[in-house]
Amino acid sequence: MAEKRLPFSHSEFSALLEKIPTPFYLYDGDGIRDNVRKIYSAFSWAPSFKNYFAVKALPNVHILRLLSSLGLGADASSLPELLLARDAGIAPEDTVFTSNDTADEEFRAAINMGVILNLDDESHIDRVIETSHAFPSRICFRYNPGPERTGNAIIGNPVEAKYGVTRDQIVRCYERARALGSTKFGLHTMVASNELNVDYITETARMVFTLVKRIWDEAGIRISFVDLGGGVGIPYRPEDKEFDFNALSDSIHKLYDEIIVSSSLSPLKITFEMGRSITGPYGYLVSRVRHVSHKYKDYVGLDASMADLMRPALYGAYHHITVLGKENAMCDHMYDVTGSLCENNDKFAIDRMLPEIERGDVLVIHDAGAHSHSMGFNYNAKLRHAEYLKLDGRIYKIRRDETYSDYVSTMLSEMEEI
Ligand SMILES: Cc1ncc(COP(=O)(O)O)c(C=O)c1O
Repeated sequence: MAEKRLPFSHSEFSALLEKIPTPFYLYDGDGIRDNVRKIYSAFSWAPSFKNYFAVKALPNVHILRLLSSLGLGADASSLPELLLARDAGIAPEDTVFTSNDTADEEFRAAINMGVILNLDDESHIDRVIETSHAFPSRICFRYNPGPERTGNAIIGNPVEAKYGVTRDQIVRCYERARALGSTKFGLHTMVASNELNVDYITETARMVFTLVKRIWDEAGIRISFVDLGGGVGIPYRPEDKEFDFNALSDSIHKLYDEIIVSSSLSPLKITFEMGRSITGPYGYLVSRVRHVSHKYKDYVGLDASMADLMRPALYGAYHHITVLGKENAMCDHMYDVTGSLCENNDKFAIDRMLPEIERGDVLVIHDAGAHSHSMGFNYNAKLRHAEYLKLDGRIYKIRRDETYSDYVSTMLSEMEEI
């Protein structure tokens, strides 16, 4: 069972709440650092192991700098994410551009920046040439295995997925890239989301290693790095087990020896582009109770809303909640925990057993370190909230609260005729 930790003692939290208004996001940088070290140490056998952090999970330049200092690269899915990675000082050769339905100017920018281009479709080869009048010497393709894999429950069936190059297209893509002058080749796939089963990710490695061998056998093209994607899960529920990176590393190591070393295709750089499993458990949305109301059900209304954290409303995702100062009280009251949007699905939890709650209580919503603040939005003109980072025992503000001026900054004061 995974323990639901708080990054502070109760008294430290109280001192912090004296200084900063709720709601806010708080990230435990020390926890992120220990986690990264644990994962890198599990894969210390793997040649040049790297995780390209999925910027979409937590797109804050200070977080990216911290991760970069720990040896991570970046996986960007859009031009602004590429720029963010650049501004965090992440080198182009440590940045993968994994986009889909890509705009011409994004191809152009990625080529100019010299990042690793990970193409989502065979037709994108032509788009790159047309838009950039060049083809990169280092290129990667995203593979969609189709019926070869079932996908997991969250990401869905690969046959239905819009992403990636098919089994029949993949070898031809590399041959075309070689004909265009590419000399360094990567192979990427992403067929899981929030997957806690080590065997599932291991099977992805088997599939990718087997494909590396097929590309060599059929085209004589040597793949120099594989990107096994993101999608490693975190224990959102207290009863979930933590993902076992040592077990994953051991099973991938065996497959590496069996398929890659035995075919003389070693060294093959092994990379991932995990986001959630890097920062997810180390983020907290801290919010205060505005109202407790008793209607046909009992409601706890917070000063945060689904505009701060939409995962529960979007996917019915579970986020554990701790009531500060009541950690040891009986959870004998059932509540819906809501925000203030004019949407009835603006709920952080439905029928959640919690201690009796009073106005003014502070609720800490766990596992909000990935795909959380970044999925925020402005509906109902809700302003987005500040982010703080705890590092080496200090607390830093890394994003201020949005203001009304920020909100209206893209609206023109006078209409402009076009
Ligand atoms: C292409 C790609 N890579 C990596 C990720 C990161 O996934 P996770 O944060 O679950 O590891 C995503 C998530 O949406 C993705 O679409």
